[in-house]
Amino acid sequence: MEVTETVRDSSRNPVKVGEDLGITEFAVDRTALEAKVKDIYRQVASHPEGNYHFELGRPLAERLGYPQTLLDAIPAGAIESFAGVGYFLDLAVLRQGERVLDLGSGSGTDAFAAAVAVGSTGSVVGVDMTHEQLRKAEDLRQQSGFGHVRFVEGRIEKLPFDGASFDCVISNGVINLSPDKEAVFREASRVLRPGGRLAFADIVTQRQLSSKIVCSADLWAACVGGAEQVDAYNALIADSGLDLVQKRKNQYEFLSGSARSATEKYGVMSLSLLARKV
Ligand SMILES: C[S@@+](CC[C@H](N)C(=O)[O-])C[C@H]1O[C@@H](n2cnc3c(N)ncnc32)[C@H](O)[C@@H]1O
Repeated sequence: MEVTETVRDSSRNPVKVGEDLGITEFAVDRTALEAKVKDIYRQVASHPEGNYHFELGRPLAERLGYPQTLLDAIPAGAIESFAGVGYFLDLAVLRQGERVLDLGSGSGTDAFAAAVAVGSTGSVVGVDMTHEQLRKAEDLRQQSGFGHVRFVEGRIEKLPFDGASFDCVISNGVINLSPDKEAVFREASRVLRPGGRLAFADIVTQRQLSSKIVCSADLWAACVGGAEQVDAYNALIADSGLDLVQKRKNQYEFLSGSARSATEKYGVMSLSLLARKV
């Protein structure tokens, strides 16, 4: 696959939104953003039946391409709170015995799915910052006997693991939520062994989002506001020492009117990607 090389848009961190606000620079309020993200995903864990900007659960997973047999092999309670944006496990090509890290594991769908693929000789660690998601995933893990999975509290921008300790890093619908994507890719690259893979799904845009959208905590937490422009996103991956080898577009749709209109105007889209540690 041909990957377009562009200069990274460093204006996203902090985010420059000057023109239409009449100021020169504006930083995303990270504390407010984290509180909003935690608030939404706390509800996703506890009340998956609620109304959200985005789709949830097994119908979403099936539409994105998760095989029925795989979904049947993992706890239903995890899938009811599934909030991913694409299927990418086929790109990961996980093998028995491999060590996998799931960034922003939520209620555990992809961590459990990876655990099925790597078997009991392998291991999976899910890292997340929202207590309710971690607690739900851990309860399900204990009830369903996935002894080679564990869930750890942490931030994906500063991972609590040694370098080169994983064969594959996975993630679904999470990196767009981080205001420091450069740190996320740097950390993913650091914890991968040489030749290891980063296989993931995320939201990006064709055109740089407007300041109004970037500054909406609601849209950010709904996986729209934090989406990076795709060329800048590719450059962040390359700068972290990862070689982007595969990329495909997913059939992912937002539900709310504001998210849909941003999608049309800025070309917001979900991609599944595979990158390899150089
Ligand atoms: C859209 S949900 C996706 C969850 C899961 N990957 C799935 O597919 O169902 C985003 C998850 O990422 C977590 N998250 C967001 N930003 C994070 C960060 N900076 N560090 C750790 N976890 C984060 C949230 O707590 C939430 O559980």
